Amino acid sequence: MANVTVIGAQWGDEGKGKIVDWLASRADVVVRFQGGHNAGHTLVVGDTTYKLSLLPSGIVTGTLSLIGNGVVLDPWALKAEIERLEGQGVSIEAENFGIADNCPLILPLHRDLDGLRESAAGKGKIGTTGRGIGPAYEDKVGRRAIRVCDLAHLDELEPQLDRLCAHHDALRAGFGEPPVDRAALLAELREIAPFVLQFAQPVWKRLRDVRKEGAKILFEGAQGVLLDVDHGTYPFVTSSNTVSGTVASGSGLGPNSAGFVLGIVKAYTTRVGSGPFPTELEDETGETLGRKGHEFGTVTSRKRRCGWFDAVLVRQSCAISGVTGIALTKLDVLDGFETIRICTGYRLDGEVIDYLPSHAAEQARVEPVYEEIEGWSETTAGARSWAELPAQAIKYIRRIEELIECPVASVSTSPERDDTILVRDPFAD
Ligand code: GDP
Ligand code: IMO
Ligand code: MG
Repeated sequence: MANVTVIGAQWGDEGKGKIVDWLASRADVVVRFQGGHNAGHTLVVGDTTYKLSLLPSGIVTGTLSLIGNGVVLDPWALKAEIERLEGQGVSIEAENFGIADNCPLILPLHRDLDGLRESAAGKGKIGTTGRGIGPAYEDKVGRRAIRVCDLAHLDELEPQLDRLCAHHDALRAGFGEPPVDRAALLAELREIAPFVLQFAQPVWKRLRDVRKEGAKILFEGAQGVLLDVDHGTYPFVTSSNTVSGTVASGSGLGPNSAGFVLGIVKAYTTRVGSGPFPTELEDETGETLGRKGHEFGTVTSRKRRCGWFDAVLVRQSCAISGVTGIALTKLDVLDGFETIRICTGYRLDGEVIDYLPSHAAEQARVEPVYEEIEGWSETTAGARSWAELPAQAIKYIRRIEELIECPVASVSTSPERDDTILVRDPFAD
């Protein structure tokens, strides 16, 4: 089984895009299986930077790229992203790009509701990306979503529109907003339909066929395990399952299709939006990590919160997602720190525990237990072999492996595609 599943093992922005792009040239197909354009994946190839939100990162290498049914798709955001990427010289045709025809759509009314709720929530807000992700997933499980395949049957949409509008009109009235303008919505859908439909297909079938021919499939996760709607820091999470198990339901292949699960792990910790963050540093050290790591969100440009590496969280993510090996990213950001701290456990009400409890109040109350290791003054930036790493950096990596109970499969030392140290080839398994 030569498939690879890439997932984020922290709160997102671990560097999944870079790693997927790096692996993509050896894959036959790259598949997104959850999330939507809340994702922001940055790829740096030579002098060019590509920012992708919906398109699978394989699109840049020209690898067949598919959006699975587990994704929520904003057709207008898709069009804008395709046009932007085409402007950068990336070719996106029906030959190298496809969308599952059973994908639910994100509509303008979802974005409205996301914004209305967040504004009304005040201090209790989730800090969403404002893209309508949550409301779109709610409508999917509420069985009132409009899906990609509906775009080919807009004359038969009335009964589904009735159900959708009845739900949203009631919610909108609660916020003092006018009902959904059905005619305007239909007109917008009619206008965008041909653009989306040129890529629409039963993705499960396409995957079945390429798999029969022995294709190597690379699944590209969005967000991270701690933002998973079940396993994350609920309710400060996204609305999809971000764990590796979602590749099956989100693309239409069986549970044995995930292959090598590569957990992407930043050498420290960041988070955007609200919610518990045990190792957060609200001091000069946190500022330094953010400055050196350019920790600003790709999607919303928000400043990311920064903190030391939390081995408790990553050990938990690796267990929950069945991670085979990790790709450790942004090691170079730790260059020059005199000492580096690693969180090895939490203190909760006088006891030391080795996992993150499920309750939000307890998650907010845990205090990190740290061990301190000596840093390194040499630079790791741009290193492409183990031999180029200072001894202390290797010691840091080895200690992380030990604490998270999972081996390192690769190390990333800059945003650039090829500044990556391969330890174990995930496609070789
Ligand atoms: P993703 O959402 O997981 O794909 O990650 P993002 O692209 O949102 O954020 C990761 C950021 O770190 C991007 O700007 C990458 O270009 C950058 N990056 C990735 N790997 C490395 C690395 O090893 N070192 C440094 N300095 N930057 C990296
Ligand atoms: P990538 O794929 C980091 C966060 C938001 C917010 C919460 C819910 O680039 O790693 P949503 O809009 O999904 O309802 O917001 O999830 N979030 C991310 N944080 N990286 C992401 O994606 C994220 N996608 C969503 O900041 O806290
Ligand atoms: Mg990101």
